[in-house]
Amino acid sequence: MDEAGSTPSPTPPGAISPYGEGLFGTKGNTVKARKVLIGIAALGLVAVLAGCSAARDTGTAGSTSNKGALVGVAMPTKTSERWIKDGDAVKADLERLGYKVDLEYGDDKIPQQVQQISNMLTKGAKVLIIASIDGTALSDQLDQAAKSGVKVIAYDRLINGNKNVDYYTTFDNYKVGVDQATSLLTGLGILDASGAETGKKGPFNVELFAGSPDDNNATFFFNGAMDTLKKYIDNGTIVVKSGQTGFTQVATLRWDPATAQKRMQNLIASTYSGGAKLDGVLSPYDGLSIGIISALTSSGYAADKLPIITGQDAEAASVKSIIAGQQYSTIYKDTRLLGKEAVKMTDDLLNGRTPQVNDTKSYNNKVKVVPTFLFQPTVVTKENYQKVLIDSGYYTPADLK
Ligand code: BGC
Repeated sequence: MDEAGSTPSPTPPGAISPYGEGLFGTKGNTVKARKVLIGIAALGLVAVLAGCSAARDTGTAGSTSNKGALVGVAMPTKTSERWIKDGDAVKADLERLGYKVDLEYGDDKIPQQVQQISNMLTKGAKVLIIASIDGTALSDQLDQAAKSGVKVIAYDRLINGNKNVDYYTTFDNYKVGVDQATSLLTGLGILDASGAETGKKGPFNVELFAGSPDDNNATFFFNGAMDTLKKYIDNGTIVVKSGQTGFTQVATLRWDPATAQKRMQNLIASTYSGGAKLDGVLSPYDGLSIGIISALTSSGYAADKLPIITGQDAEAASVKSIIAGQQYSTIYKDTRLLGKEAVKMTDDLLNGRTPQVNDTKSYNNKVKVVPTFLFQPTVVTKENYQKVLIDSGYYTPADLK
């Protein structure tokens, strides 16, 4: 449209002008039309500016709409102390930020966890924090979450085979395995405290245990450990007398201590009843170590002459066992940090911020690499438990009495 008053793009005969009948209908109305258009443009500008400020609000005050939002927290089991601590800490921190929390434990039963997560979605959860039992069993729930715009954070254990896992926070699981194997080598005297080889050649009889095959972490732990032990198995310093070295042979479904105890009893009967001495056990988790120790002591191993036995999670019962000289080591993972990270990610997501990650390559869930925030584990033995576990406030001295 120009000053000379040519009409704007003509509305076809018989059609109604999008701007309203009569406005552009005659030449005489052109000036009026121009004013109106300027008005509309101005209104548009106001609308755009309002839009910008609304967008900014989602950044900061998206909190307005998500304030008090429900967050679903699905934990796998209460049989292990660590998950209780994890659940309690995440819940308390979320509540401190004003969110409502639905914290559920799956009792190591896959259908139960599936149902719990479905319920969280029905109740209107805006973010799900999930420590899965079976990392491949939640696809329907994740698809449902994505459809409703619900974000999913995999907690400690990766959820596999689905693209709707938005973030992951965990410890460096491969490193956990490396650390377990390294502490086994140190306990056996093959390595010294600095990690240097002492020249001791054994041979040392060692048996291997792994975690639950449906937990993605279990293979990471096992691979880290086996990559570290391989050299010593190959050169005969370590002998796995049972011959059971494959992951599936040594895995422990649902991380069940009773299953590990039974397997240890069977190994003693099948492989060590003729007087051969067992020198070490690679155990990936404190609960299994307790089962393994029971099998050994009830088969006649003296409590103060047990093999070198590893673990994970620094559970109070196992730290006490370490202090008493039974279990040799555990892996401490400060779950307070993990919980805080999951809460921070949740708060970011609910306020339009992008959570920060420090690993974008290690955790491929078979569909995509999930952006991850990784923490580092720490080996704990009798030598450093005071400094690592008590001085840091993770335990009080009374917790370990
Ligand atoms: C966790 C370990 C724990 C194990 C058994 C794993 O997924 O990473 O910390 O020992 O599950 O609960």
